[in-house]
Amino acid sequence: MFDPVVADFSLAGRRAVVTGASRGIGRALAEGLARFGARVALLARNADGLAETRNAIEAAGGRAFVHVADVRDVAGLRRAMAKAAADLGGLDILVNNAGTERIRPSLEVSEEIWDRILDTNLKGAFFAAQAAARVMRQGGGGAIVNICSLTSAVGVPGAAPYGASKSGLLGMTRALAAEWASFGIRVNAVGPGYFRTELTEVFYRDPAWQEAMRARIPAGRFGALEDLVGATLFFCSDASRYVTGQILYVDGGYMASI
Ligand SMILES: NC(=O)c1ccc[n+]([C@@H]2O[C@H](COP(=O)([O-])OP(=O)(O)OC[C@H]3O[C@@H](n4cnc5c(N)ncnc54)[C@H](OP(=O)(O)O)[C@@H]3O)[C@@H](O)[C@H]2O)c1
Repeated sequence: MFDPVVADFSLAGRRAVVTGASRGIGRALAEGLARFGARVALLARNADGLAETRNAIEAAGGRAFVHVADVRDVAGLRRAMAKAAADLGGLDILVNNAGTERIRPSLEVSEEIWDRILDTNLKGAFFAAQAAARVMRQGGGGAIVNICSLTSAVGVPGAAPYGASKSGLLGMTRALAAEWASFGIRVNAVGPGYFRTELTEVFYRDPAWQEAMRARIPAGRFGALEDLVGATLFFCSDASRYVTGQILYVDGGYMASI
């Protein structure tokens, strides 16, 4: 029997790359896409973390491949993307999730910090998208999801390089969406609110910060990694077949409130 829900949201037979899949949000998204039927290639620098993600996916009955790569190294990234596409037998989905941050007063930001954040969050995402789009175009299309941030739209003190990278990533999302729509490639973004991971652990260690921040989130709680799967699945699947160049904030209402 035809099931419109399954038809639109299923990722059965889809081939996906998730960057930054060795822990945190990337691991949760890779596991989530696999649960909906995708075969997933996992990219990051830490081989042990990637293996843990692969093992979790395969223990749940999915299929995953590991590719160690630093997204700041464009030649290495291209090699990893090519191997991923070869392992998967093509490419339908890219989730650009690899990211880094260093909270620091702007008067103290070094060139090294600026370069590390921009090269990881923006340059890496662009060249992963370029490598993916070359394969997707041959296959008739695909879906790219860029993991942005609240700082794609608002300013956070101490996060100028990060905000520049994530605002840039949103601008890039729109430009690539406009440019690649004719190839059948859709490019959208997910903007996570506050999620506790290695990246953000430094904030959560402060109980006063936790209390003040929770009070600003209309839903009254921080995000759970699983909360990000639905929005990402939507953009990766046929359910969003006529949606491109958009961002969806998954933030418990933070961006909608003052
Ligand atoms: N947590 C939040 O509240 C939040 C909010 C908004 C947006 N985000 C975004 O969500 C994404 C994931 O963040 P997270 O919170 O899950 O952080 P995380 O736990 O620190 O994970 C970051 C991931 O990115 C990978 N990565 C970092 N630098 C890399 C590089 N040069 N090459 C390849 N992979 C690299 C890391 O793997 P390796 O170290 O193994 O390379 C890791 O898998 C980031 O883009 C972040 O900006 C997070």
